[in-house]
Amino acid sequence: MTTRILQTDEASLALAREIIEAGGLVAFPTETVYGLGANALDEAATESIFKVKGRPNDNPLIVHVHPDYDISSIVTDIPEYASRLRKAFLPGPLTMVFKSLGTVCPAVSCGLDTVAIRIPSSPAAQRFLRAVNLPIAAPSANISKHVSPTSAQHVFADFNGLIPLILDGGECTGGIESTVLDCTGEVPVVLRSGLVTREMVASVAGDCRVHTPVAGEKVRSPGMKYAHYSPKCRTALYAEENIPSAISRYDAEEGKGALVYFICLDETAKKLGGRKCLNLGQTAEEGARNLYRMLREGEKTADMIIGIAPACRDGVMAGLMNRFEKACGGVYES
Ligand code: TXA
Ligand code: MG
Repeated sequence: MTTRILQTDEASLALAREIIEAGGLVAFPTETVYGLGANALDEAATESIFKVKGRPNDNPLIVHVHPDYDISSIVTDIPEYASRLRKAFLPGPLTMVFKSLGTVCPAVSCGLDTVAIRIPSSPAAQRFLRAVNLPIAAPSANISKHVSPTSAQHVFADFNGLIPLILDGGECTGGIESTVLDCTGEVPVVLRSGLVTREMVASVAGDCRVHTPVAGEKVRSPGMKYAHYSPKCRTALYAEENIPSAISRYDAEEGKGALVYFICLDETAKKLGGRKCLNLGQTAEEGARNLYRMLREGEKTADMIIGIAPACRDGVMAGLMNRFEKACGGVYES
């Protein structure tokens, strides 16, 4: 199969619609990361997403719709706080989980009785969703476990020959996946943190909790239990307070002939004595925008990437560090 990258315009949108209606897959830009979309009402099309990504079949997909799509045809029991959140943050990088009406096909929710709904703000995403006027099931457009894609070229690197069309909308401005919020209870619960922070949700909904998985408990957001965002090279992870150990590790690896990069925010980068570094920038928002691009650039040449994480987990830092820790192997070394 030939994989085409086309600018998002009338002609490519007509082609996208044709492919989706025929049960095929189309990659499209959003403000967070690129998605790999299929018609959420078509069981075979939805199942093909899992096959082409190598995605575990118990990890449900988010359903994307345009702002004027009637979500009450897909989900029910929408609490009042969710309507306020919708007004405050949508379209945008917030996904809300509601009770399913059973309209979208079972493969989307992997047996859960809920559906995750996302209304992206990216103009290109909205043009695509309006062109097809269908609910579109879409995970991030990366091979399962690999780093998420923030450009059409990233999608091409993972899916060349496997999908017919990538709609190009330039670089994603957000850079990490949407916040996933469980809206099935009295108080909203963050299942995956992102650019719409717990604090922002609480300020509108009155309260907001963060889900922390407990061993043995039924998994509420299956996606969070898997390895994720892994670059194709060795990784290691250190806390900011252990910079001296991280530097010793870097020097030891380099001494053995490895090409090593640190990855960290700018403030940390200044403390590394000029060693090679993928500098994520000054703020959590900048870090989010840069993380996946830098991991994908780094993995092309690096033998090893060593992450150094600050202690702060407030606001957007919660989402950034969730991805950062997983990308660097998830286990702190000292
Ligand atoms: O920003 C994003 O959300 C991107 C773009 C493409 O929209 N999509 C994305 O999809 O990140 P994916 O498949 O990589 O992650 C979906 C996450 C997973 O953690 C999954 O477990 C969770 O959403 N999820 C989906 N449906 C759910 C449901 N019904 N209940 C709980 N969690 C759900
Ligand atoms: Mg993903």
